[in-house]
Amino acid sequence: VTRDPFLHLYSPQACTQQASSIREICKLATRPEVRSLAGGWPGRETFPAEIVARIAADVLREKGPDALQYGTTEGLAELRQAIVTWARDRERMDLGLDQVIVVHGSQQGMDLAFRVFVEPGDVALVGLPTYFGGTGALQALGARLVGVPVDADGMDVAHAERELARLAAEGARVKLAYVIPNFQNPTGECLSLPRRRRWLELAAQYDFVIVEDDPYGDLRFEGEWIPSLFALAAEVGAVGRVVHVHSFSKTFAPGLRLAWVAAEPGVARKMVIAKQYVDCCTNTLGQHLLDGFIRGGHLETQIRANIAHYRRQRDHMLAALAEHFPAAARYERPQGGLFVFVRLPEGLDGDALMAEAIAENVAFVSGSQFFVDGSGRNTLRLSYSQSNPETIDLAVAGIGKLLRRHLDTP
Ligand SMILES: Cc1ncc(COP(=O)(O)O)c(C=O)c1O
Repeated sequence: VTRDPFLHLYSPQACTQQASSIREICKLATRPEVRSLAGGWPGRETFPAEIVARIAADVLREKGPDALQYGTTEGLAELRQAIVTWARDRERMDLGLDQVIVVHGSQQGMDLAFRVFVEPGDVALVGLPTYFGGTGALQALGARLVGVPVDADGMDVAHAERELARLAAEGARVKLAYVIPNFQNPTGECLSLPRRRRWLELAAQYDFVIVEDDPYGDLRFEGEWIPSLFALAAEVGAVGRVVHVHSFSKTFAPGLRLAWVAAEPGVARKMVIAKQYVDCCTNTLGQHLLDGFIRGGHLETQIRANIAHYRRQRDHMLAALAEHFPAAARYERPQGGLFVFVRLPEGLDGDALMAEAIAENVAFVSGSQFFVDGSGRNTLRLSYSQSNPETIDLAVAGIGKLLRRHLDTP
């Protein structure tokens, strides 16, 4: 191995950042012979390519050069206006135009939110488990991550309260909590309404902000809609304490990298300034495509179609799991989103199982990647988003066989 000649020049951040092992493994899992439940990307069959082609032709014909020009950092005014209306009708969020920013995916939205609040050493509360894209962005800023267990009602707020008291006594500065409220990646669980309220009360009491990352809330198959933390904040005296980040990746097209952020005007302004030095503005043509998509009423239709599609996929996976998985592998029935999270008996190691699975041409993601404290080694994430029913059957059967082999071995 040749030594990297620039090691002495890299920033500490570049030296500490690690490539996500999930992404590395998902690369292996894309070999054609592997039946994979590892990738959590949206199903390509859901993408509205023909409609987008028509809108693109119209936009380029009617708007011409403006659709190819730089835009304002906040985003296209007409799109932000359409988002204000959408957020009011669907999310019961009452937003001014100065509270909405269009960004390159929710990954950028949360990164900008973290940048404007976090400095090295600040504490961020994160789920155990939670999405590594969020924790990775926080780690890049030097945040100290403190884990809060996630159960069937989401991040355990009573545990958080004990941690907050302990951290206050220690003199630590807690700046934010990173919360995925709906069909969390990787557990598929939602944060319950009482817990949402309590998290907001704690944010007000202990003076921190909540970054609410919601890429999956639009994909609810069943069960009752729960208002966002952003929408609830006013009710519990926590106005302005939530930055809501809402992706279009699972409802429109992830390759266009589009999401919206809602925040207090002052916070939004700080995020816009931060964005100016990252990429100036969000891609103009993509925003025009999305604007045309929303105004043509297609987003509503697309969400309904995606819900029906992923619900079928979920049902298919649950049926396969019931048939092939040993009873000792525990999982919940997700009411939306893209994931089934499996908890195995203590002592089984998801990382080792994942390597074995890939050698046997089936794949999943080991849950340990989602636990910042190194726990959760006995967990797995299965995704039903990218595979067809036949692949789901074969993969679940193969993984089930592997698990039985391990569980039968004393
Ligand atoms: C919880 C969570 N947040 C954010 C993202 C990134 O989404 P986007 O494509 O909007 O950047 C993902 C993608 O899988 C995710 O699972």
